[in-house]
Amino acid sequence: MSRAVLITGGARGIGRAAAARFVAAGDRVAVVARPSPALDATARALGVVALAADLADADACAAVAARAAEALGPIDVLVNNAGVIHRQALTEQPLAEWEDTFAINLRAPFLLAQAVLPAMLERGRGRIINVASIAGTLGTARAVAYCASKWGLIGFTKALSEEVKGRGVIVTALNPGSVDTRMLAGSGFEPDMTPEDVADALHYLSVAPAAIAGAALDLFG
Ligand SMILES: NC(=O)c1ccc[n+]([C@@H]2O[C@H](COP(=O)([O-])OP(=O)(O)OC[C@H]3O[C@@H](n4cnc5c(N)ncnc54)[C@H](OP(=O)(O)O)[C@@H]3O)[C@@H](O)[C@H]2O)c1
Repeated sequence: MSRAVLITGGARGIGRAAAARFVAAGDRVAVVARPSPALDATARALGVVALAADLADADACAAVAARAAEALGPIDVLVNNAGVIHRQALTEQPLAEWEDTFAINLRAPFLLAQAVLPAMLERGRGRIINVASIAGTLGTARAVAYCASKWGLIGFTKALSEEVKGRGVIVTALNPGSVDTRMLAGSGFEPDMTPEDVADALHYLSVAPAAIAGAALDLFG
């Protein structure tokens, strides 16, 4: 069955690979990123719907979910993948970077889940998959905002999973280690996985048995 899949941060990296993986499985896909030639190129290359939006803008989140449902039909799978990291020592970190991190990594998943959940509950089915990080299970230097947002996203996942338990909506998180993308470049960490490895795991979470609800799956490569 072809499903309607909304993937944030789908212009490049893990999100782009995930879009390709879901398309290969026969799903209808929309990807969100800020307007750029990369977003348009991804949409053309993969045959997916491009939704240009800045997820740091709270109003844009509900609007983009509505545009996705208009283009694809009711959303079956939401992959909250868009994320940012501002690598900085605590004492040097401007408040704006903390706020930007939390807006994109945690508030956008909250708002997008709020937007798609009612229709999922009404239909008695749906998947919400949050791309957190191994950094949401441990601490990394020069990344207090990023780590805190990802620990928060895992908590969000587990709480929402409990809230919708038994109603057909399965909420999970994926915690990748080091993946070969632009985000990792310059971090000092060597990649252990390709974006395609992570995309396979995201697809798995979209079809995994319902008993996986609430899990935050670590992925080390
Ligand atoms: N790479 C790793 O080692 C690693 C490890 C663990 C977890 N993760 C997580 O995996 C997810 C994907 O990361 P990646 O490695 O694929 O990074 P990436 O290559 O930097 O891609 C990030 C994606 O998020 C989008 N994005 C960023 N800010 C946005 C905004 N304000 N509005 C809309 N879209 C926005 C970007 O598009 P635009 O910039 O064009 O808007 C891009 O498509 C993130 O949540 C990240 O935290 C990554």
